[in-house]
Amino acid sequence: MFEAKALKVDDKAAFYRELAHQLEGLLSGERDAIANAANTAALLFTTLPDLNWAGFYFLRSPDELVLGPFQGKPACVRIAVGRGVCGGAVAQRRTMLVEDVHAFADHIACDAASRSELVVPLIRDNRVLGVIDLDSPLPARFDSDDQRGIEAVAEIYVKASADL
Ligand code: SME
Repeated sequence: MFEAKALKVDDKAAFYRELAHQLEGLLSGERDAIANAANTAALLFTTLPDLNWAGFYFLRSPDELVLGPFQGKPACVRIAVGRGVCGGAVAQRRTMLVEDVHAFADHIACDAASRSELVVPLIRDNRVLGVIDLDSPLPARFDSDDQRGIEAVAEIYVKASADL
């Protein structure tokens, strides 16, 4: 049985180093893309404070993301590439850090409680596979430490998992 150790949150760099270590252990020996996404979402949701949603969207065709494993309230199933924060991260192939979703014109509200959002693309050999999406009920919940930490999580997930 996997048990997440309590993570110190006062030193974010140390927190994300420990989280990366736990994730590598959790995914080791398993290549299934869905199982690994489900466990990654669960680890993120149970260890990161102040989240109301943590999960995956996968690029199932060149122009559309489809909902993957997640923790939180039920969410929008399909997001066109270029739409919303998630579709923007795919189109621009970069992390999107949104401090105030109300000020982001194209934000797609799945949970009215969300106030800030961090979306990191999953990239293998220059191909975008999907995104990891984190939502928080707190404005400006995410900073550059979170961005670096979740980018490392995305890399570990992509390395550990086969294509969907
Ligand atoms: N807010 C996202 C949609 C996904 S939900 O937050 C889970 C967006 O604008 O792309």
